[in-house]
Amino acid sequence: MYTFGVHEHINALLKEQKIDVGGEDNLFYTRMLANTAPILELYLQLYEHHPSAELLFDDVVKTIIVAYQKRTAVLKQRDIQKLEKEYWFLSNEINGMSLYVDRFAGSLKNMQTKLDYFEELGINFLHLMPIFESPANESDGGYAVSNFRKVDDRFGSLEDLLQLQEEMRKRNMYLMLDIVLNHTSHKHEWAIKAKAGEKKYQDYFYFYNDRSVPDQYDRTMPEIFPESSPGNFTYVPECNKWVMTVFHNYQWDLNYTNPNVFIEMLDTIFFFANLGVDILRIDAPAFIWKQLGTTCQNLPQAHTLLRLIKQCVQVAAPGMALLGEAIVAPKEIMKYFGNDHYTARECDFAYNATHMALQWDMLATGDTKVMLAAQHEILKKPYGTSWITYTRCHDDIGLGYDDAMIEQAGFEAYAHRRYLKDYYSGTHPASPAVGALFSSNPKTGDARISGSLASLCGLEKAINNNSSKDIDESIQKILLMQAHSFFLGGVPMLFYGDEIGYTNDYSYLNDKGKSYDNRWMHRPVIDWQKNERRKQEGTVEQRIFNSTKKLLAIRKQLDFVSDQSNLTWITPHNVHVAAYIRESNSKRLFAVFNFAGSVSFLTWFAFKEKGNAPSSLFDHWSGETYAVGNDHEFFVLPPYGFALLEG
Ligand code: GLC
Repeated sequence: MYTFGVHEHINALLKEQKIDVGGEDNLFYTRMLANTAPILELYLQLYEHHPSAELLFDDVVKTIIVAYQKRTAVLKQRDIQKLEKEYWFLSNEINGMSLYVDRFAGSLKNMQTKLDYFEELGINFLHLMPIFESPANESDGGYAVSNFRKVDDRFGSLEDLLQLQEEMRKRNMYLMLDIVLNHTSHKHEWAIKAKAGEKKYQDYFYFYNDRSVPDQYDRTMPEIFPESSPGNFTYVPECNKWVMTVFHNYQWDLNYTNPNVFIEMLDTIFFFANLGVDILRIDAPAFIWKQLGTTCQNLPQAHTLLRLIKQCVQVAAPGMALLGEAIVAPKEIMKYFGNDHYTARECDFAYNATHMALQWDMLATGDTKVMLAAQHEILKKPYGTSWITYTRCHDDIGLGYDDAMIEQAGFEAYAHRRYLKDYYSGTHPASPAVGALFSSNPKTGDARISGSLASLCGLEKAINNNSSKDIDESIQKILLMQAHSFFLGGVPMLFYGDEIGYTNDYSYLNDKGKSYDNRWMHRPVIDWQKNERRKQEGTVEQRIFNSTKKLLAIRKQLDFVSDQSNLTWITPHNVHVAAYIRESNSKRLFAVFNFAGSVSFLTWFAFKEKGNAPSSLFDHWSGETYAVGNDHEFFVLPPYGFALLEG
């Protein structure tokens, strides 16, 4: 909407900052004009009642302008190239990997020597886990940041990061970094000043003189790390106050009701954008707004804040997409894509955490019903947004889907979850998995699951038992899980080590900065001699690496598996078989996956009921061509087998 006064004011600010509105900055100027109204509207929704709201709005605009001015010509050029493709990030040609720089390569400098490895595998998008300064033993894997602008010495320097980014850009690779928006380390400059009693910085956090307000909050706020960090507040002896710490006690929650915090963090977001980040992973966005009497998760204002960030980013750094790391209930995840007027105008990506967990459900039960019951929610994702699809990441697996979905599938929710937890923690007698429960909460009975892809698929046990039959089966399961997620729509994000079959790494138990957090068991230190075995015929490493590589190559080759919201689930003719169709421009992929440990039979009718019936199907995975049979005949899938059938 055009408002004379506002636009005049913005014009004046642009002039003051020497923006060449009719010349080289014209595109920026147009974007600014287009987004002024939503930016102001969203800003006022949050800060209207703040005494300095009006004054500080100028700082918001100036932050955007300065960010644009600092953006290099190369990045501005890349922005335009991306915008020309409209939704560049929906492409089937992007395959990602998430990794810890130190555990993978030692340092940022060394990362450059690993770029060939990624290219060999077919990875062109890297998520570097947090590399900014973070206190060694109070780091939460880097998610407790003490300086958002300084690369931690453990990894190298900012210069090393920029060099890596440049080399990646030359190879057409994309970069993702995290912005830890919800909290800082208690060693961050703001926290140190707050401890010293500076009111300005105490207002950057949620500070209380005594336990009365914290107690009220605690009544409705769940605990995130109940074992290692119970409660949501921590006593600060230096200033004799309590501060909100939803995650660990060394992670202080930032107070976004203060517009100064928003402006500081917006500036930090632009700092990341101007490093050349292609996708910014917004850590824990569900938590960024708090309100007494609520769970302090997924609040409407958290969405307003994300929308505001999105509109600002679009003006100064339009080539940077946003990923909201909202690992919450299925219905809530969807809201991070925006809704109503802001549909597809909030986060460009979210993790498909629901489907990830449901894959593990299917693998343990051999049954697809719960997964299918969740699809009516998942398929609501708006066009122009996408998923990060994955089987494992650095975090635990939360069984966060709704009880109603489990019940709709005919199971009793409590017993079903109990079974899954027993199965993956390895306490179920029939389970080949080796994992552990994470963050068990005896008060609620909740628990999540830690363990690497390979160990949860049975490889650790199979190797220990020296059973080649079990090794074969676990490899088959690993590939089933990966294939199922690679073709689902969205950008696949592998977790480093999974391409080689790393089993759990228990060395974290000897490190006092890590031993309290069993998520470290699935965050391996890469042994490059082991990775070299990918070149030796018949090794476990070679079998997993080559097959993963093949799957990624197939994905890259089939443009109709790009995320055009073009997925249809096939009627479950066989409860063990998850099957979906990806279709575009009269090309079709029937992706079929047998989650049972025995042979499954799928009626040929399954391939005929939607659209034109194919007469033959080519399996990109096996290279076989099948003539489509009669309805009373079957397509046969081996135990944990799958097929990627085009036709
Ligand atoms: C995110 C990260 C997780 C971290 C938490 C707190 O969920 O993925 O590893 O512990 O945020 O920053």
